[in-house]
Amino acid sequence: MPETATASSRPRVLSGMRPTGKLHLGNYMGALANWVKLQDAYECYFFIADWHALTTDYADPSRVKLNTVEVALDWLAAGLDPERATIFIQSHVPQHAELHLLFSMITPLGWLERVPTYKEQQENLTGKDLSTYGFLGYPLLQAADILLYQPQFVPVGQDQVAHVELTREVARRFNSMYRSQMLDRRPIFPEPDALLTPSPKLPGTDGRKMSKSYGNTIGLTEDPRSAAQKIEAMSTNGQRPRQTDTGDPDLCPVGDLHKVFSSPEVIAETQSACRTASIGCRECKAMAAKSVADHLHPIYERRQSLREDDAWQILYAGADKAAKVAQQTLLLAKDVAGLSRTRQEMGAFPQSAAPALPRNFAEAMGSSAISLRNCWLSKPEVRDLALKEAARETFATEERFLEEPLLTASKKRVLLRGADTFDPEGTRFEIPAKSYEVWALIFVDTTSSEWQTSPDECTRGFIIPQKYFAQAFAAAKKSVKKNETIPVVLRRDGERFLLTIHESEPVEITELESNYDPLR
Ligand code: TRP
Ligand code: SF4
Repeated sequence: MPETATASSRPRVLSGMRPTGKLHLGNYMGALANWVKLQDAYECYFFIADWHALTTDYADPSRVKLNTVEVALDWLAAGLDPERATIFIQSHVPQHAELHLLFSMITPLGWLERVPTYKEQQENLTGKDLSTYGFLGYPLLQAADILLYQPQFVPVGQDQVAHVELTREVARRFNSMYRSQMLDRRPIFPEPDALLTPSPKLPGTDGRKMSKSYGNTIGLTEDPRSAAQKIEAMSTNGQRPRQTDTGDPDLCPVGDLHKVFSSPEVIAETQSACRTASIGCRECKAMAAKSVADHLHPIYERRQSLREDDAWQILYAGADKAAKVAQQTLLLAKDVAGLSRTRQEMGAFPQSAAPALPRNFAEAMGSSAISLRNCWLSKPEVRDLALKEAARETFATEERFLEEPLLTASKKRVLLRGADTFDPEGTRFEIPAKSYEVWALIFVDTTSSEWQTSPDECTRGFIIPQKYFAQAFAAAKKSVKKNETIPVVLRRDGERFLLTIHESEPVEITELESNYDPLR
């Protein structure tokens, strides 16, 4: 596995492919070959869009599972590398379906009806009834696929550009509708760009575009001998009916095949020989077959050595990895859209691959002080306190609720505050200059070795009664301007914890940790 730091410093790309079964050379040259190259310079997420397959094949889904695994095997044979790219099945990461549903709430029907592929496909795929809700939502599901991972780029062919454009519009609408900003002011859904895959003209065996529906394909992992036979029987598009006739390789599908797979020398040689009739078509085709075989041979070999079971293991592991990233985004999106969290989600703190001692918690946790607060509130010891109810009532995503004191059952005013930043001197809280009877200060203990893997378990809370802070806080309030917050730093000194309020002398608060009595 590449080091996390390296992987996360690379720009991220994400793309998907519908599971149409074994891939052909057209799929390979139009997408997959490019994905294989992208692995060197990008953090890659590639998935098989089985939900998308159902939007058109719902009436006969019998081949979806088989096609899915065939695609996975072909990806691996072609050189997608699970060590460098996260490879998974769309439906195995349920966050795709969930974000799609959330997006469906905010997307105007007209946006979807206007996507060009909608009408085109309905007209082209005449054997299927595509007047369904799911098919209309096809590009919106794609927007969810993409935005869950916040990629900078989406490598796609020209035919998908309209879908990436819709994705950008959905992101913009969501961001502005929910003023969905993290504490550091980055939008939840940055707008990705399409990364256009140049797709060379690749003819099928009958001279038309290579396509499964024309039955004119050469399989990516087909036996090279059978591929050669297909090429030898290929149409020349009426060029050189007699061997003595000269031809134009630009009008011949075999000429196009050379342009994609042959070396510059072979291209030059066959083109001039075709124009002067100094080579027979049979020989020209044999040369094209050899060029194709040179490309396909290693892929064919690798495909022979792959077992279906290995592919499943790779896909399962990929889904686990992808779900971690997707869940972070989904949680924030659900928060800002007003949905409450499940018990598991309360405890689950978004994780991120951050360096060991981050300055900024929001950055480090991929989250905000709100999540930190919720995480602490979900602890079993805290769960039953009346405070929890008060906190739930004022639960909101707006930052001002972080500043409002909460009222306990006995009407005590409590400041419940998650750490704002981590400093080398300690954890820093910015406290609004209001009046409180108790402070509950919560932070993630980054000195614990487990904090990166299970930060929720490293969450600590100190419950500080007024007598510990009253004097110093009153003095600090006098020295700051109205609306400014007062910095409070919690520092660890061996086994002791010290609190410094603004410029005051530190006071020891070690014994106050997890003692909830002041809240009762
Ligand atoms: N619609 C894409 C296609 O037919 C497949 C796809 C689904 C996709 N979700 C995606 C591509 C997300 C890029 C990103 O090719
Ligand atoms: Fe086509 Fe090659 Fe024959 Fe020319 S020589 S017509 S390029 S097959």
